[in-house]
Amino acid sequence: MNKKQINPFEYAPQIMDKMTHGGILVTTKVGEKVNPMTIGWGTIGVDWSKPVFQTYIREVRHTKGMMDEAMEFTVNIPMEKNDKVKEALAFCGTKSGRDFDKVKECGLTLVDADTISVPALKEFPLTLECKVIYKVRQDGKEIPQDVMERFYPDWEQNPEDLHTVYYGLITAAYIIEE
Ligand SMILES: Cc1cc2nc3c(=O)[nH]c(=O)nc-3n(C[C@H](O)[C@H](O)[C@H](O)COP(=O)(O)O)c2cc1C
Repeated sequence: MNKKQINPFEYAPQIMDKMTHGGILVTTKVGEKVNPMTIGWGTIGVDWSKPVFQTYIREVRHTKGMMDEAMEFTVNIPMEKNDKVKEALAFCGTKSGRDFDKVKECGLTLVDADTISVPALKEFPLTLECKVIYKVRQDGKEIPQDVMERFYPDWEQNPEDLHTVYYGLITAAYIIEE
């Protein structure tokens, strides 16, 4: 399988468009377990003069524990919206890796990554490989009140409702081709 190397910033409009229209995947791996999760929030840009993709993971997600252990992830972006992609985004955005092998359930094909141990996904060909260089738990006291009411209504009873932001240094970017 060929990988066409790309400049991730040239694909930023495409990544943002897919992320805000149905979602993209963030995949983690611990041991032999590979777990993709749908995301709708993310930021691509520059931090400390390095190319970075930031992902926002709620504390309750299975992905959160896996991310803390692996400290690596792939970002998997579809190039077309076929039924398999739509079904995978729906499944990986509602079912937890605690209860399901999402790769198996969605019939996804793993592709070895170049710089990290987390694989890419053939069906989501536009790929960013990321190593976590920083993580920060969002501080509820610094978030505007209207955002708190909308996204974290139970924050005081449930502090783990908040998101942790993972800054992923982009160590490789490519499109998987047949
Ligand atoms: C379109 C869409 C976007 C989502 N975006 C995020 C996100 O950015 N951050 C997050 O923590 N959860 C997000 N979720 C929810 C997770 O994908 C969902 O809870 C998933 O089942 C968690 O899987 P896990 O328990 O295996 O980590 C989103 C769900 C959907 C359907």
